[in-house]
Amino acid sequence: MRRNILVGVILLLVAGSVVAAERPVAPNGIALYPDYMSWKVVAPSYREDKGHIRVITGNNIAVTALRAGKNPLPDGSVLAKVAWKAEKHPSFPVATEPGAFAQVEFMVKDARKYKDTGGWGFARFVGNSLKPYGKDANFVGECFGCHVPVASNDYLFTKIVKTP
Ligand code: HEC
Repeated sequence: MRRNILVGVILLLVAGSVVAAERPVAPNGIALYPDYMSWKVVAPSYREDKGHIRVITGNNIAVTALRAGKNPLPDGSVLAKVAWKAEKHPSFPVATEPGAFAQVEFMVKDARKYKDTGGWGFARFVGNSLKPYGKDANFVGECFGCHVPVASNDYLFTKIVKTP
């Protein structure tokens, strides 16, 4: 019985490490959240200078808090921003649609762990190979620096979209 439990624990550990090994990890230790496309929509967005069409999604903790108007968001909140190259629809050129995948970014809330960057951990994974962005953990300075102007909104630019 004891032995079976031990074998079970070892199998779980091995399975866990295989799953973890498949996920790319940013230089600050944040691993890609593989289920970001099944999270709830926070808002779409479009960035003219980059020609990117985006969707921002959030895990349950984040979206529940955003819907309730909470600010700052609680620990455990994770937001993803997924970007594609914007393209004209071939059959209807005034319509813009997502083309090639560009990147996915995450903001992970842990007020204590990430207290130097507004309570948020940042990560970016680029292109179809999901290459972790940044030479070392200092890349977060670039992310945080640009999010500082929205400090009063918990460093978030995006507000949850309104629907009837
Ligand atoms: C030059 C400014 C700039 C930099 C640098 C930047 N961001 Fe943002 N970020 C924005 C803006 C503006 C938005 C609003 C939505 C959009 O642009 O599509 C945003 C939105 C986000 C969102 C969705 C939540 C929100 O605040 O709206 C995430 C997640 C995010 N950024 C992660 C990152 C990460 C990770 C990095 C660094 C690797 C980063 N950002 C660097 C400007 C920036």
